[in-house]
Amino acid sequence: MLIAQISDMHIKKPGELLYGRIDTQGYLERAVAHVNALDPSPDIALVTGDLVDGGKPEEYENLKRMLSALRMPFYLIPGNHDARDPLREVFSEHTYLPRSGFLQYVVEDLPLRLIALDTLVPGKGFGALCQERLDWLEARLKESDQPTLLYMHHPPFDCGIYAFDAARLNEGAERLADIVRARGTVERVLCGHVHRPIQVRWAGTMASIAPSTAHQGTLDMRPGAKLSMTMDPPGIALHLWRPATGLITHLSYVGSYEGPRPFS
Ligand SMILES: [Fe+2]
Ligand SMILES: [Fe+2]
Repeated sequence: MLIAQISDMHIKKPGELLYGRIDTQGYLERAVAHVNALDPSPDIALVTGDLVDGGKPEEYENLKRMLSALRMPFYLIPGNHDARDPLREVFSEHTYLPRSGFLQYVVEDLPLRLIALDTLVPGKGFGALCQERLDWLEARLKESDQPTLLYMHHPPFDCGIYAFDAARLNEGAERLADIVRARGTVERVLCGHVHRPIQVRWAGTMASIAPSTAHQGTLDMRPGAKLSMTMDPPGIALHLWRPATGLITHLSYVGSYEGPRPFS
């Protein structure tokens, strides 16, 4: 099974630029075309939060128009820029999304079991998993011995970039790690939020962050460095699941670059 992960699209209303200058819509359209052109085609896409920038219904309508061009089924989770009710109302035919409460769900009918977590705290940049959300996860993990892919917007680990580490999964990360470590069936934890490709060993498994389809977080590891962004190349993560090898992850840049050509 091949899984495309696209993240942090920050879609605005049609024609509106992010921060007055970043065409997040154009970036997402190019990312969708990139995913659709992959051969072999991904079986599914995971869209790991900050779907839109302001949580507004018209932004979700614009997002839906663009994502509907994807050739494969896709699964959404919210990030800190999202709002639960407009998201679930606009994507009402996405029946895996609960009709009320947190946007957490399980997808059972695939070779790899998927569990989505909702780390949104309305009005805040950081994320949290309260007791209710973590109890739900613990119960879901106990239901099956199948290898499981966990995905959530806010990383539960430090990435070494001060400003992001101050606003990651600020609540619930320790218990989440205990649950994941104790169960031992989580193949990977996929995250967004930092707008950079990052990998770390975490809670006895691996965790990773996908880049944004648009603007990237600046790679600045100086203590106390202020939050900033760069226009490094946009990308997606591509996860190949094979039972014999586990999950193999590639970073795939969106854009046109020279090649392919022979190594000669
Ligand atoms: Fe983001
Ligand atoms: Fe975020």
